[in-house]
Amino acid sequence: MNELNTVVASAQADFNQAGTPADLENAKASYLGKSGRITELMKGLAALPVDQKKSQGAAINLAKQAIEAALNARRQALADEQLQVQLEAEALDVTLPGRQRGQGGLHPVSITMERIEAIFGSMGFEVAQGPEIETDWFNFTALNTPEDHPARSMHDTFYVEGGSATAPNLLRTHTSPMQIRHAVQHVKKHRAAVGDGGDGLFSGTMPEIRVIAPGRTYRVDSDATHSPMFHQCEGLWVGENVSFKDLKFVFTDFCRIFFESSDLMLRFRPSFFPFTEPSAEIDIQFQSGPLSGRWLEVAGSGQVHPNVVRNMGLDPERFIGFAFGMGPDRLTMLRYGVSDLRLFFDGDIRFLSQFQ
Ligand code: PHE
Repeated sequence: MNELNTVVASAQADFNQAGTPADLENAKASYLGKSGRITELMKGLAALPVDQKKSQGAAINLAKQAIEAALNARRQALADEQLQVQLEAEALDVTLPGRQRGQGGLHPVSITMERIEAIFGSMGFEVAQGPEIETDWFNFTALNTPEDHPARSMHDTFYVEGGSATAPNLLRTHTSPMQIRHAVQHVKKHRAAVGDGGDGLFSGTMPEIRVIAPGRTYRVDSDATHSPMFHQCEGLWVGENVSFKDLKFVFTDFCRIFFESSDLMLRFRPSFFPFTEPSAEIDIQFQSGPLSGRWLEVAGSGQVHPNVVRNMGLDPERFIGFAFGMGPDRLTMLRYGVSDLRLFFDGDIRFLSQFQ
């Protein structure tokens, strides 16, 4: 009996000594293996007298069970230890900020452009794009802009190579050249479609011209509210019976939708543009919010001048319409309450990411 207790104690000690699963299996062999101590004791039973066989056999079995229990406990302990080591090795700090792939987004002015296109699109306006390097004809002459107009001076306009000595090419100073470009195409397409081969001014029936032309424009100008590159969006609606009343209606509707405000006032302030007659600056006034009460200029506008209607290839006795040119940069500043235009073009991600 004493001997069995010693064997069990020795097995427990050996198992606890084993530092790895392999060591443990080796230690197991010397007790439970083919010539292990328990196995040998079992074999020795054969030589015992019958009365002792039974009690000694039961005692050996108990010892064997105790050794197996010690073995399993140590196996489990070793497995736990190993798991613990592995967990520590692969430890990860879930409080560290994740590594993200930066997600881009639209520039605030582009967001405005998309809004403008969507709103005018819902009113049946097409969207047209045109060149930023313009000819003297489209930027000035076709728009009834006289030789001595200040916009034609080197101080106000960026001239580039190309064109003629008396009429050099330039970076367009406004999107108004698109009035002519788009209308001329519209008339040409319509004439081809109806088999009209004439090349004089068109005075037949024709679907209305209803278009906006957003894009970049350039002037020699730079301060908190002017940048040498800025954006404009032209609007043009020409038909047989389009009046100033339609301009008021369309532009008022646009502003109220754009600024999501129904108590917004518009003012058409008499002004002058060579290509419209009469002409008006359009001012808006918010009735609430930080800018409330102030009149803010957002667009130039007017009824298309008959000379311009002629340069579109249309008979001004039959066709009439209005045009406007607004500043999407200005609209963006007003919508988001930004006071310095240059922030939009500095490319500072801390500023730009606020609009996402
Ligand atoms: N092109 C004018 C400007 O840049 C704005 C305008 C457009 C005025 C259309 C009347 C009609 O100031």
